[in-house]
Amino acid sequence: MVKICGIGAGYVGGPTMAVIALKCPSIEVAVVDISESRISAWNSNKLPIYEPGLEEVVNQCRGKNLLFSTDVEKHVHEADIIFVSVNTPTKVKGLGAGKAADLTYWESAARMIAHVSNSDKIVIEKSTVPVRTAEAIGKILTHNTKTKGINYQILSNPEFLSEGTAIQDLLNPDRVLIGGNQDPQGLDAIQKLKAIYTHWVPQDRIITTNLWSAELSKLADNAFLAQRISSINAMSALCEATGAEVSQVSLALSKNTKIGPKFLNASVGFGGSCFQKDILNLVYICESNGLTEVANYWREVIKVNEYQKSRFVHRVVTSMFNTVSGKKIAILGFAFKKDTSDTRKTPAIDVCKGLLGDDACLSIYDPRVTQNQIEKDLSISCSGVKHVNVVGDAYEAIRDAHGVCILTEWDEFKTIDYERVYENMVKPAFVFDGRNMLDVDKLRKIGFIVYSIGKPL
Ligand code: NAD
Ligand code: UGA
Repeated sequence: MVKICGIGAGYVGGPTMAVIALKCPSIEVAVVDISESRISAWNSNKLPIYEPGLEEVVNQCRGKNLLFSTDVEKHVHEADIIFVSVNTPTKVKGLGAGKAADLTYWESAARMIAHVSNSDKIVIEKSTVPVRTAEAIGKILTHNTKTKGINYQILSNPEFLSEGTAIQDLLNPDRVLIGGNQDPQGLDAIQKLKAIYTHWVPQDRIITTNLWSAELSKLADNAFLAQRISSINAMSALCEATGAEVSQVSLALSKNTKIGPKFLNASVGFGGSCFQKDILNLVYICESNGLTEVANYWREVIKVNEYQKSRFVHRVVTSMFNTVSGKKIAILGFAFKKDTSDTRKTPAIDVCKGLLGDDACLSIYDPRVTQNQIEKDLSISCSGVKHVNVVGDAYEAIRDAHGVCILTEWDEFKTIDYERVYENMVKPAFVFDGRNMLDVDKLRKIGFIVYSIGKPL
């Protein structure tokens, strides 16, 4: 029986390994992590992350061919194939601080693999890493292994899932990318990984490349996606200045088959743990290679995103007569997108901090994000602080508010009884739709003053 070990039981490692276990009953999958609390949550009825469909997959396999453990060394030692899905955040200090990827977690995982291995291993980069990381990992592995003659093959197999749709994305990926050394041993390792995916992914969706192309493709992928959002968000500012409507512009663009329909929703800004960090990483790599113009090009994608978030705050404050001081503002949605409880780099953090900077009183509701998490993200303790209240439903958040900001596109915000909430708001009542998800005409008929992204007032 082939044994797989997945190091890192986070948003990528947990769902990815669970789907491999589901689709490959003949393979034993152990998911390991240094975080005891995460592993005990994976072994409980309350999984550490919210992801539609995940619980069903885990329940089907856990205790059969899927296990979660903190005994990292044992499972690495026993495995033939090791997927490494540890976090690769932006460095916060030292060389490249604020841009370069922090590979501390990766390096420590690689050293541990070398330390405990006494048989050949295929080591797979599942985390998003700078191009040429495999070269460094290879050196760490070969220089630290105690048993002579062990062969390590490093593969790059970046993950393309999106949070909120992770299980669907994993069950039905548009492509699987595998990069490896182009010598006979490398090609053999590629085939071994390919054989796992062919349990459920059609052959023609599995792309094989050299290592560096696979590593760079992942960074390029996220950069292109984020660039599309910044492009449409930049257009949204121009729409507001000219009377064009960004949703109509998006529709027109989407029908161009050369452009296509996805990632054209103007918003309060993109969030999530990856877009910003991966672009910064790309910027750093470009700079390190002397490619200043290329670095500057990609840096602008992030600048436009910052601009979009601050534009939103500015619009709220200026619309409400240039002051939100002491005014209650309902914040609907805190997660970085719907169907996840993840708040990493959510635009809600910047918007809330911006409004608090103008002394607004915030009443925050998100169907999946806990009060604890919101307090942590805003670096405040909500108990006793009268400027922020985290509440249990949208109606409570909106009662007696001057304005409502929609910051996450949760479906339930579409079905709020806006006539009812209008009655209970201070007038004039404002709605700032940061996700362009509400029916503006209907709200205006009720009496709201509505601001949508990229639409005339
Ligand atoms: P995460 O923080 O949710 O999970 C990483 C886990 O690795 C943590 O639980 C941490 O405790 C564990 N870990 C760190 N060092 C370890 C070690 N030495 N041994 C064992 N466990 C260790 O991160 P994530 O969101 O799952 O992202 C992981 C990687 O995947 C990142 O490189 C990210 O860029 C990439 N990625 C993320 C997504 C996404 O949607 N979140 C999608 C594609 C790719
Ligand atoms: C993104 C990519 O879509 C995945 O392919 C990639 O694997 C992943 O990053 C990663 O490497 O972490 P994710 O961040 O989970 O996935 O979610 P997205 O759906 O891409 O949304 C990211 C942000 O952009 C969200 O804040 C979302 O609201 C925003 N967005 C998305 C827009 O503002 N407009 C759009 O049209 C699309």
